[in-house]
Amino acid sequence: MADNSREVFAPHSDNPLRQLTVDQLRRRTSLKWRAYPENVLPLWVAEMDTLLAEPVAQAIRDAVALGDTGYPTGSGYAEALATFASERWGWDGLSAKRTAIVPDVMLGVVEMLKLVSDPSSPVIVNPPVYPPFFQFVESMGRPVIEAPLGADRRIDLEALEAAFTLAVQGGDRPVYLLCSPHNPTGTVHTAEELADVAALARRYRIRVVVDEIHAPIVASSTRFVPYLSVPGGENGLSLMSASKAWNLPGLKSALAIAGPDAADDLLRLPEEVSHGPSHLGIIAHTAALRDGGDWLDSLLVGLDDNRRLLADLLTEHLPAVRYAPAQATYLAWLDCRRLGLGDDPAAIFLERGRVALNSGIPFGTGGTGFVRLNLATSPEILTEAVRRMASALA
Ligand SMILES: Cc1ncc(COP(=O)(O)O)c(C=O)c1O
Repeated sequence: MADNSREVFAPHSDNPLRQLTVDQLRRRTSLKWRAYPENVLPLWVAEMDTLLAEPVAQAIRDAVALGDTGYPTGSGYAEALATFASERWGWDGLSAKRTAIVPDVMLGVVEMLKLVSDPSSPVIVNPPVYPPFFQFVESMGRPVIEAPLGADRRIDLEALEAAFTLAVQGGDRPVYLLCSPHNPTGTVHTAEELADVAALARRYRIRVVVDEIHAPIVASSTRFVPYLSVPGGENGLSLMSASKAWNLPGLKSALAIAGPDAADDLLRLPEEVSHGPSHLGIIAHTAALRDGGDWLDSLLVGLDDNRRLLADLLTEHLPAVRYAPAQATYLAWLDCRRLGLGDDPAAIFLERGRVALNSGIPFGTGGTGFVRLNLATSPEILTEAVRRMASALA
């Protein structure tokens, strides 16, 4: 990366996205900065280039100082999430009694699917969608049925109904695996859309499992609506976590949350599932939700800035790329079909531009010709990434 990127580095900035240099980031040992050689700039997997929120770092330091590294217990994580949900989303329906700790969101999804479906039950998803939705479901042996998002990147109720019709013919106890907010498009489903989904699911007797991991990362102009809070959503099962919003995927833990009519299902969760999450993870996630609100607000401002910056950079350097800044997540879903780079532009950007983005292809129908770019980085790295993408066309 060009040396001038370091001159604008702002270690004392309030913006969590401007506190680490490329050299520091390259010393990290986690996936994002290690999967590719040093001359590749990585803006792919959903890790953020931030320091820890101070309350989180302090909670971990305190635990380490005490040797507090035993087994987890108690409902502090769920209570912190309930307070966060009430303050941020105006939702008071999260009862710690109807929650369970799970190792992480995707293993939580697997466990929820086991609770409300059979080994042959189809699972409906909305592509383009987070690729592990396919991988985890398929490795459970359950067939996936696609209900693609509409061209507006929103849930297409007709496509969903067609998928539900197919699903009820194809096997017992189908489940709809909803992503809210949606990865990779960053779509925030409205209360009305979610209520329509819930009504449709009830009509077809299809249970809904909803992955709400990105819920805290919603632009200030938009409001996240928990699925369990909408009329008809009472028999849903949700997975939430502080992992994405505070960059804690290495500190494993997440929460499964049952709506009032799904409480009995959650009670059937095998006790041993709660052995998976890490005690240190629960400490970190709890501190994030309880005391990390200011840090999150600064992050959200930084992400808004980066969305605008990306739009400007693309207009200037890659005007043929279609980009609609999202309302949520730190991911940008870029339509590169007019660039003439074929089905997998990410492969060309990597090979010719030395910049790593996610290929759209594993996201399922609607992913061909798209790339997913991770915005949770400094404006300087983002600028250099677009420069590299443009150089791939030269
Ligand atoms: C929609 C979605 N679900 C789940 C995960 C992974 O979460 P976890 O590491 O808690 O399984 C991600 C990570 O990016 C994600 O985007």
